[in-house]
Amino acid sequence: RDQSKKQLSEGMDLLTKFYHYLLATAKFGKSGMNYLNDRGFTKDMIERFQLGYAIDSWDTATSLLERRQVNLGQMEKAGLIGKRGFDNKYFDRFRNRIIFPIFNPRGQTVAFAGRTLGDEKPKYLNTPESSLFHKGKILYGYHLARQSIRKSNQAVLLEGYVDVIRAHQAGVTNSVASMGTSLTEEQAAMLFRAAETIIICYDSDTAGIEASFRAAAMFQESNKIVKIAKMPEGFDPDDYIRKFGGERFKSDVIGASQTLMTFKMDYFRRKRNLVDEGDRLLYIEEVLKEISTLKRAVERDHYLRLLAEEFSISLDALKRQEMQMYKAAK
Ligand code: CTP
Ligand code: MN
Ligand code: MN
Ligand code: MN
Ligand code: MN
Repeated sequence: RDQSKKQLSEGMDLLTKFYHYLLATAKFGKSGMNYLNDRGFTKDMIERFQLGYAIDSWDTATSLLERRQVNLGQMEKAGLIGKRGFDNKYFDRFRNRIIFPIFNPRGQTVAFAGRTLGDEKPKYLNTPESSLFHKGKILYGYHLARQSIRKSNQAVLLEGYVDVIRAHQAGVTNSVASMGTSLTEEQAAMLFRAAETIIICYDSDTAGIEASFRAAAMFQESNKIVKIAKMPEGFDPDDYIRKFGGERFKSDVIGASQTLMTFKMDYFRRKRNLVDEGDRLLYIEEVLKEISTLKRAVERDHYLRLLAEEFSISLDALKRQEMQMYKAAK
């Protein structure tokens, strides 16, 4: 079993190098390199993240694996190559895609994602779970971010591969990605073992914002500081940095990140017209309900005061109502 894990790991390392070599070789990698250049990825980032390119062919990776006598059945199971039903021949699964190797904390490849150069579906083709890869336990970029996370005592959680690469390029080297919006308990645990403050910076679309709330809730049990970073609607960190630059990302997005409650208050406020009395009451109730879910009394008190000040209402009245909700929620 250990032997087969070792073989699989060697096969993945071989392919990481191979795809990376294809990208760097003018004869093969031109369209991949053009794509990455157009997106503004530097040579340095291509190296650090060992990006690669799978050429538009059905047998290039397969014949390399054959030549090197890698166990093809095992490679098929790990989703690196496919097998045709009618003649049992193996074929390359990644064709004409940018390759993102996914590393474990030790920097060994455990999975791959391949992105189309255009807008074919699926945008990302991912290899499945294997003896080396349990998706819920891996954070993309963690092997490169770990030191910086410890040093800054802060981790920045993003959604996607390119977001992490772009953030590192901009100097935000404590960034990692959950690879989509569903953060797992294991991923959350990895982060709060490593840092005091977690900043969530998911894509600024409805799915991303809702997912930030869910992710933040997972950190609430721990005694950590969870903040949410906000970008203009429709942007993800990669879009933002390309448009406004890394310095503004640091100051206006990461630097301006807010606690979950402040972020939620903002979000609820934007949904309503607070000049309208009815809306104002609904907003206050919505916020009170959120406050009543907070574990720490000091925190509840802090936000009750903010709310009382915002609407010049009596703190006592707010406290009474919040207490009822708090008890009801228990
Ligand atoms: N994802 C995935 N498979 C998909 C779509 C998304 O695994 N078919 C994961 C990837 O980790 C991806 C992340 O979810 O990086 C966020 O998805 P999305 O925002 O759609 O992609 P981006 O990372 O923004 O990629 P790009 O900028 O290249 O479009
Ligand atoms: Mn190289
Ligand atoms: Mn998204
Ligand atoms: Mn995105
Ligand atoms: Mn993107």
